[in-house]
Amino acid sequence: MGTTLHLSTVDSTNRYASEHFDTLGDGTLVSASVQTAGRGRLDRNWHSPLGNVYASYVMKEPFGDAFRATMVSSLSVIAAVRDAAPGLSPAIKWPNDIFIGAKKLCGILCEGVVRGGTVSGIICGIGVNVNMSAEETASVGQPATSLRAETGKVYDLEAFVEKLRMYLDWYYAAGTSSPESLYRQWKAENSVIGHRASFVPPDGHAFFAFVRDIEPDGRLVVEREGRQPERFTCGDVKLCISQPEPGNRKEAR
Ligand code: BTN
Repeated sequence: MGTTLHLSTVDSTNRYASEHFDTLGDGTLVSASVQTAGRGRLDRNWHSPLGNVYASYVMKEPFGDAFRATMVSSLSVIAAVRDAAPGLSPAIKWPNDIFIGAKKLCGILCEGVVRGGTVSGIICGIGVNVNMSAEETASVGQPATSLRAETGKVYDLEAFVEKLRMYLDWYYAAGTSSPESLYRQWKAENSVIGHRASFVPPDGHAFFAFVRDIEPDGRLVVEREGRQPERFTCGDVKLCISQPEPGNRKEAR
């Protein structure tokens, strides 16, 4: 379906894809070897040295709920990681990070492209730590890992990007024709359902809650002791105890 446009250096593949949205075809993947101003969620920087994957996928189809773009992206990364490193167990940490164990492997930043006051498409920005050394991952500022740090191997970045594009094409098409199935697959890859987690809401008052479910629009359903279930669209979830409560995990899916 799509094509890959590779740039050696760019400020941000998301910014580039957004600026060139009108001329890029649906399903184009813009990748870069280095980003000089990589962007993360919540206005953070995304450290983007040589050796990792930085890519932005252009979605032009009317895609319904914007959160579906996140689902397409994270399922595609998980599939590409499984192909490249079959021994690893990547999982989605809500809303859109990919973790291996307690360390972040990949971040995803989906941004709407607005033309004439309406959303014309979505740019799915994906940063995967691939060949970053274990020493470099330690300098990222949060627990992070890379495929190389996990397995000791050095990966072919071009091959990884092509695999990723192939899966993005596949899940994009699958998500357009069968959103319910996309949601089910995405939910099954989430590590947080059935666990107690700590939440930090915008007011900064952290609390613990049991994560019961995630809804099709990406809202998290959580239960605090003695309260009715609550739903959150945003906020950072930090897994505290990775001990599923018996019976709940299955029910939650
Ligand atoms: C996060 O904060 O976890 C999201 C990080 C997203 C980084 C990727 S790298 C490719 C694309 N271009 C950007 O500037 N950001 C995204």
